[in-house]
Amino acid sequence: AEIMKGSFPHFMLKEIYEQPESVVNTIRGRINFETKQVNVGGLRNHLSSIRRCRRIVFCACGTSYNSCIATRGIFEELTEIPVSLELASDFMDRASPIFRDDVCVFVSQSGETADTIMAMRYCLQRGALCVGITNTVGSTISRETHCGIHINAGPEIGVASTKAYTSQYLALILMALQLGEDRSSMAQRRAEIIKGIQELPEKIKEVLKVDSLITDISKNELHDQKSLLILGRGYQSATCLEAALKIKELAYIHSEGIFSGELKHGPLALIEESLAIIMLMTRDSHYIKARNALQQVIARGGKPIIVCNNEEQDISDKYRKIRIPSTVDCLSGILAIIPLQLLSYHLAVMNGVDVDFPRNLAKSVTVE
Ligand code: G6P
Repeated sequence: AEIMKGSFPHFMLKEIYEQPESVVNTIRGRINFETKQVNVGGLRNHLSSIRRCRRIVFCACGTSYNSCIATRGIFEELTEIPVSLELASDFMDRASPIFRDDVCVFVSQSGETADTIMAMRYCLQRGALCVGITNTVGSTISRETHCGIHINAGPEIGVASTKAYTSQYLALILMALQLGEDRSSMAQRRAEIIKGIQELPEKIKEVLKVDSLITDISKNELHDQKSLLILGRGYQSATCLEAALKIKELAYIHSEGIFSGELKHGPLALIEESLAIIMLMTRDSHYIKARNALQQVIARGGKPIIVCNNEEQDISDKYRKIRIPSTVDCLSGILAIIPLQLLSYHLAVMNGVDVDFPRNLAKSVTVE
């Protein structure tokens, strides 16, 4: 069937607005909210071998790679298996050692990205258990891996990935929840996350209401900037990278996502009043450190725009705030990326970019 934009001017905006439903499609039939159990059919027969592995390697490109960064921490917490991250192209450049007792997870919206396919075949040859997380039934990665998860986000047409990111993020969390089910010490933590997932669609709907504020910020503060830094840490570190990627590819504005723990190791030298900065300051166990970064930025004359929770009252009114609902720490990156997806969209429209087809880029990169 032909996919239509409906009342939306671009596929990208339609896909951003689809997220309350696309995340539901990712979890449909996979979580029992009463018993707090997760059952992803595509992994069921391989759970015990995955649990026995000595490490898990996540391998992907672009936005899909950012979803791996976003979930690495919670994956390690829930499974106690060390997780390493590999950009498919760099992994192949190094021909990194892979062993039979490794589990390799390939995350790809299309399932057809050449670098990720090469990496998958390399790992298959070395006898690793290979898991595919894709949005495309019948794609090369879903066919050639031993097992996997379809994220079921529905077709994504806009070159810049949006709903696939939030669904990949959630699918990786489902995988971690299911793998961790043999650890009773984590039952409460798992239950808290599952409850958070249940509430997520409503909270996404609420986040989407920031759209007019974001239009205003784009028009009055950011569209003519030469450069934009996005700072965060912990659960929001991937949000920074993913937001910066969206802004580069769509608005053609130089943008850099920075882990705020690295601020003092270089980027601080850039901070001055005229430099546009966005800081992610959601309330979680890293909040105090995020405050620290804020102080550092303010002390150098920076005027950051701050993404924070609805309840936040401790940050001066001098700074523009984008407020989002609070949720469980490991899910807050799903809510936080949405205003920044909207920001990249509006910046692109204001800068005259053909949003669904930005220059020099392809939806699926099938060459190395
Ligand atoms: C291209 C797209 C990106 C995407 C990346 C990886 O660069 O423009 O949006 O994140 O490929 O694609 P995949 O299909 O493997 O997720």
